[in-house]
Amino acid sequence: MKIRVFETASQAGLYVATLMEQVILNRESPVLGLATGSTVLPCYKAFIQIANRGLDLSNTVTLNLDEYVGLDSYHEQSYCFFMEENLFSHLSVRPREIHVPFGVSENLSEECKRYDAIIAKYPIDLQLLGIGVNGHIGFNEPDSLLESHTHVVNLTSPTIQSNSRFFRDISQVPQQAITMGVQAILQSKQIVLMAFGEQKADIVARAVKGQVRTDIPASILQLHREVTLVLDEASASLLPN
Ligand code: F6R
Repeated sequence: MKIRVFETASQAGLYVATLMEQVILNRESPVLGLATGSTVLPCYKAFIQIANRGLDLSNTVTLNLDEYVGLDSYHEQSYCFFMEENLFSHLSVRPREIHVPFGVSENLSEECKRYDAIIAKYPIDLQLLGIGVNGHIGFNEPDSLLESHTHVVNLTSPTIQSNSRFFRDISQVPQQAITMGVQAILQSKQIVLMAFGEQKADIVARAVKGQVRTDIPASILQLHREVTLVLDEASASLLPN
């Protein structure tokens, strides 16, 4: 696992945006695995600048990690909306295909199968990840088992608590989400996990330097050959030198 520590989140975001650019320049049909949340914002901001200087995205496919159950794409807190608002609507050339799990499907288990078929069709070249304060990646929450395929997950209270900052009140945070499983994440050719701020320092240290455990889902990234951890000084502060 490579670890890159930057002074600020915006420097870190620029670095990750250039990794995305490299994938797009070097692959005929690039596939980017994307995430939502506060952590990826500096990266998307930098990527928009890079892309709009003439990067050709017309062959690129994107696949998002997850979506809340029950929120449609017009809901301001849906991840589909987040992606439009923070990335896609700012690009002068949109990716060829954009995929986000469909959180209002009437048949969620069919939706999970449909999403797995898309992942199988488009193997991910570069997967971006944030990390939850409880160690989740995507919405693979701490548990005694980690599911390999796309599935519906009951969100844990630390996640609901943490994500309530985006909703009017905590009762409005969906209790469930659809998430890619750990297999899709681990099958990505390259993974970049970003974490910023001191509130992530403890979980980053436990995920990276501790044992691989299902109650710290991000720790399974230790098993992947091509992972880069992109941190700011605060989130790196508990890592041993
Ligand atoms: C979002 C996702 C989550 C977030 C994580 C960190 O698509 O998959 O795992 O990356 O909850 O969220 P922030 O960045 O808001 O701290």
